[in-house]
Amino acid sequence: MQKAKLTLDKEFTISEVDPRLFGGFAEHLGRHIYTGIYEPEHPTADAQGFRQDVIDLVKDLRMPVMRYPGGNFVSGYRWEDGVGSKDQRPVRLDLAWGAKEPNTFGTNEFADWCKKVDAAPMLAVNLGTRGPEQAQELVEYCNHPGGTYWSDWRKSHGYADPHNVKLWCLGNEMDGPWQMGSKTAFEYGRIANEAGKLMKWTDPSIEMVLCGSSGRGMRTFGKWEWESLHEAYDVTDYLSLHTYYGNADADTPAFLAQPDNMSDFILESVALSDAVGASKKSKKKINMSFDEWNVWYQTRDQVDQDEKWSVGRHQLEQKYTMEDALVVGGMLITLLSHADRVKIGCIAQVVNVIGPIMTEPGGKGWKQTIYHPFEAASLYGRGTVLRSLVSAPTYESKARDGAAIVMVASVLDENSLTIFAVNRDPSGQAVELTGDLRGFESLKGVQHSVLINDDLKALNTAADPDRVSPQPAGTAPALDGANFTAILPPYSWNVIRFAL
Ligand code: AHR
Repeated sequence: MQKAKLTLDKEFTISEVDPRLFGGFAEHLGRHIYTGIYEPEHPTADAQGFRQDVIDLVKDLRMPVMRYPGGNFVSGYRWEDGVGSKDQRPVRLDLAWGAKEPNTFGTNEFADWCKKVDAAPMLAVNLGTRGPEQAQELVEYCNHPGGTYWSDWRKSHGYADPHNVKLWCLGNEMDGPWQMGSKTAFEYGRIANEAGKLMKWTDPSIEMVLCGSSGRGMRTFGKWEWESLHEAYDVTDYLSLHTYYGNADADTPAFLAQPDNMSDFILESVALSDAVGASKKSKKKINMSFDEWNVWYQTRDQVDQDEKWSVGRHQLEQKYTMEDALVVGGMLITLLSHADRVKIGCIAQVVNVIGPIMTEPGGKGWKQTIYHPFEAASLYGRGTVLRSLVSAPTYESKARDGAAIVMVASVLDENSLTIFAVNRDPSGQAVELTGDLRGFESLKGVQHSVLINDDLKALNTAADPDRVSPQPAGTAPALDGANFTAILPPYSWNVIRFAL
């Protein structure tokens, strides 16, 4: 058995967690919208055609914000197509994903669906094929009370009250050559600044997310942030980060080490933002919006079963394994560990498309393996993140040098202290984790649940939806005053909760 030690002190804090760290992302892509969240013919569909089984599964993830409508899709989207009488809405080609877009679900349906899942909408505007004018008009449509062309148009569609959308993304991945209307950093910075200006003039209460590079591996990473932030610093409140990890090389130790690279990416993006702020002598600090993150192999399960230009194609339907859940758990630990600067997070995506929830058209909905770490972190990860000092053996892999065999984040709220831990020891051993919880004299009890499976490739399916699901730890933790010992099983996600 391996050994690791955790030391923390009640007074040594990182930050309060912004609940928006546990957000989601819903794109018009594959079966996310059509037969995912919207399927009027489904037996559980409500009066608006929303699948109630999916609403229930999403609600349990307690996502405070939901990003929409893309993603790559937004860069060719005309938002006006998706509002008003459904029989008048045009059918369009979606060039981003080679699909047909019927527009039977649009901004107003999304706002209604968000209410049903207790999320606030986070809307992206099209800065690919469109520009500041249409972005401003969408803000006016959504947020202006009435008495103007666009706000009255909303009213005529049956929405007397404004949607009051607070968070807005200035385009999506604008440095990517795959993006419709992709731009250089300077071109993007200028158009983002002008769009953001008009949007904030329309509603000064809104907050803006500027696109960072579409990934840390992009040739433009660094220079992109520096140049675009220089142009758009004044309108920017958050810088966006996107990251997907996969195990296409079947190298599990390297795959499990990847959340540490996510941590470096955050530190680098914060440094870039602060450097621009310093060069502008600005007092303003720009925080991070990690608004696309997940496991996505990008090479596996990508086969389109449906013909091009059809509605709701089977695209990006990643089937998540036990080891994928460990990486998602590690990414959640990374986000929590940077809660001082990462204020928004959106797991990408939510239903069917690289999502924690899968559905069959006309049939069941179920929880993929990655649903479980997200649900636990969203439920117990709100409060104050404490500095978790971990002393543990490290291992080398192709992904990076010196990854600790155990990852930990600790969150304190009024009634409990929760320790999230991943055992990623590549030798496949259990880890005895001892904890020194300084400043905690009156711990009243402890519970330990684990996500494990002997087969790292185990999946949840419609026929066997609970194959990988949380269970009580085999060995209950020992608690002695402010010290504890817990056994983290081989390759496990652990939630250890102390009552105060
Ligand atoms: O989430 C899937 C896609 O990944 C999004 O559309 C895009 O923003 C990213 O490249």
